[in-house]
Amino acid sequence: MNLEFGRIADSLPYILEGIPITLKIVAAAALLGFSLGIILALFKITRIKLLNWIADVYTSIFRGTPLVLQLMLIYYGSPQIFGIQIEAVTAAFLSFGLNSAAYISEVIRAGILAIDKGQNEAAMALGVPYARSMWDIILPQAMKNILPALVNEFITLTKESAIVTVIGITDIMRRSYIVGGETYKFFEPILFAGLIYYIMVMVLTLLGKAIERRMRRSD
Ligand code: ARG
Repeated sequence: MNLEFGRIADSLPYILEGIPITLKIVAAAALLGFSLGIILALFKITRIKLLNWIADVYTSIFRGTPLVLQLMLIYYGSPQIFGIQIEAVTAAFLSFGLNSAAYISEVIRAGILAIDKGQNEAAMALGVPYARSMWDIILPQAMKNILPALVNEFITLTKESAIVTVIGITDIMRRSYIVGGETYKFFEPILFAGLIYYIMVMVLTLLGKAIERRMRRSD
C-alpha cells in the first residue's frame, strides 16, 4: 500500500478545521436529544394514556425512518414546515437532536424501570412528591446504570454526523472529500478523516469511563 500523505499535507489543516463544526452539531444535538429524551421517557411511564401514545408515536416515527431522510426533510422542507429556509447547521442540529431523543427516551425508560420499586414506595411513604422523587431519587440512580448506553448513543451521533455532508455542511467528512477532488487523491484524506473520527470516539469512550468510575465511587 503506497500512501502519499506528502501530496495532501497542505490540506490537512483544512480538514482539521471541520472538527469544531462536527463537534458543535454533535454537542448541541446531544443536549437536545438528552433533554427531550428525559421528557419522552417520563411520558412513556406515566399512567396518562395520551402521553404514552404521543411518546410512542414520536419514537416510532424517528426510529422508523432513516436519519439522513429526516435531515433532508427538515432542511429542504423547512420553508414548508417553518415558513423560512433554515441554515444547514440548524437542520443538522434539529434532526440529530430529535432523532437521538427517540433512542435516548428508550434508554432512559429502561433505566427507570430497572430501579427497584421499593425506592419509589419508600419515597411515597415518606410523603415525597412524585416529581421530586423522580428527579432526586429515581433518575440519578437510573443515570448511573444507563451511562454506557448513553455513551453508545453519543458515539453513534458523532460518527453519524458525517451524513451532514449531504446538505452541504463542510464538516470533517466533506472537507476530506473536497481535498480528494482537488488533489485527485481520495484515499489519504479520507483515511485522515477516519483517524479524526476514531480519535473523537476514543475521547468520548475515555470520558464515559472516567464519569462511570466517579459515579461508582459513591457506591
Ligand atoms: N443510520 C441510522 C439511521 O439512519 C442511524 C440512526 C441514528 N441512531 C441513533 N442512535 N441516534 O436510522
